[in-house]
Amino acid sequence: MLQPVLDVRDLATYFFTERGVVRAVDGVSFRLYPGETLGVVGESGCGKSMTALSIMGLVPRPGRIVAGEIRLMGEDLVGKPDRELRRLRGSRMAMIFQDPLTTLNPVLRVGQQVTESIRIHYGDGTWSGGSRRWSWLADPLGLRRRRIAWERAVEMLDKVGIPAPSERMRAYPHEMSGGMRQRIMIAIALSCSPALLLADEPTTALDVTIQAQILDLMRRLQEEMGTSILLITHDFGVVSELCDRVMVMYAGKVVETGPLDAILNTPRHPYTQGLLASIPRLGDRSYRLKPIEGTVPELHALPPGCSYCTRCPVADEYCAAVAPQLKEISPHHHVACHKVAAAPAMAGEGVPS
Ligand SMILES: Nc1ncnc2c1ncn2[C@@H]1O[C@H](COP(=O)(O)OP(=O)(O)OP(=O)(O)O)[C@@H](O)[C@H]1O
Ligand SMILES: [Mg+2]
Repeated sequence: MLQPVLDVRDLATYFFTERGVVRAVDGVSFRLYPGETLGVVGESGCGKSMTALSIMGLVPRPGRIVAGEIRLMGEDLVGKPDRELRRLRGSRMAMIFQDPLTTLNPVLRVGQQVTESIRIHYGDGTWSGGSRRWSWLADPLGLRRRRIAWERAVEMLDKVGIPAPSERMRAYPHEMSGGMRQRIMIAIALSCSPALLLADEPTTALDVTIQAQILDLMRRLQEEMGTSILLITHDFGVVSELCDRVMVMYAGKVVETGPLDAILNTPRHPYTQGLLASIPRLGDRSYRLKPIEGTVPELHALPPGCSYCTRCPVADEYCAAVAPQLKEISPHHHVACHKVAAAPAMAGEGVPS
């Protein structure tokens, strides 16, 4: 059996606020295998970003990981000192965000930022994790190391489709378009060939044509480098383009997870069905948009049972009282809902009426 690149078990990340404890991530478990893309979907505030930030060791205060394990290539990251997490960020895992302007440094040229990340991770003596050692005697001023980092940065810019990469190395972030800045972020993230890439809404801020180019680029680089991707998005279109599997989150929990095809064509959790029913379909004029009624409950005052019961069309008293656990209803397809039996979906079953 293939070893997962990432194995998250019962992860809980809470925020300790004056209004109470906010359970942003509450018992989340999943695995990500080599070269695989897992899509994470769910409405705003359901814990998608906090799941990714927990993995990166970047949960902001007053939040912290209170329970669970995060194994990256077998090594548990929970409780690791910052110094070690910093070493792993960029070398084994990297993250790209929605808005590259907030993550790129505005006063540094892009070339400097790309080379910097390469030097930080390769400057410690290991090159691509291999055995080639940098000798202080052979390169006392680090000139050779600098030159190689610069060359590798130009190569990365070229790889992510930046035209005239040597010249663009001297540009500042504000001199580039949103799509180009996102390409720079991808170049930085992938410059050290991480095993895991966490992409948090990487194309949301871009217009549709640029979005397609960036998705295409991510797919191509993934094939080339074998990176596993955790892709957070609101957009089922993006999910269907890029993901092998999908995980649906609601109020800090996983409510359904399964292969792409199963989630898109035979979703079983009423929430997933609601999410899919709320997207407009191109070319189908008779199709009426059905937004899910109600809002996500406050995460510090969740009902004891299923968190979705307040909005669910099929929930009853039992649902409100007892929290459902994820169960496998068909191979690799898991659903947390009392109303779903472990039988295959009926033909024509879609949105509950
Ligand atoms: N600084 C904070 N203090 C208190 N609670 C917070 C803080 N940051 C986040 N949270 C809580 O964590 C929950 C999950 O946030 P998260 O950013 O993971 O949502 P998300 O699914 O990424 O949403 P979006 O789609 O809007 O990006 C939020 O609902 C919020 O209640
Ligand atoms: Mg988010």
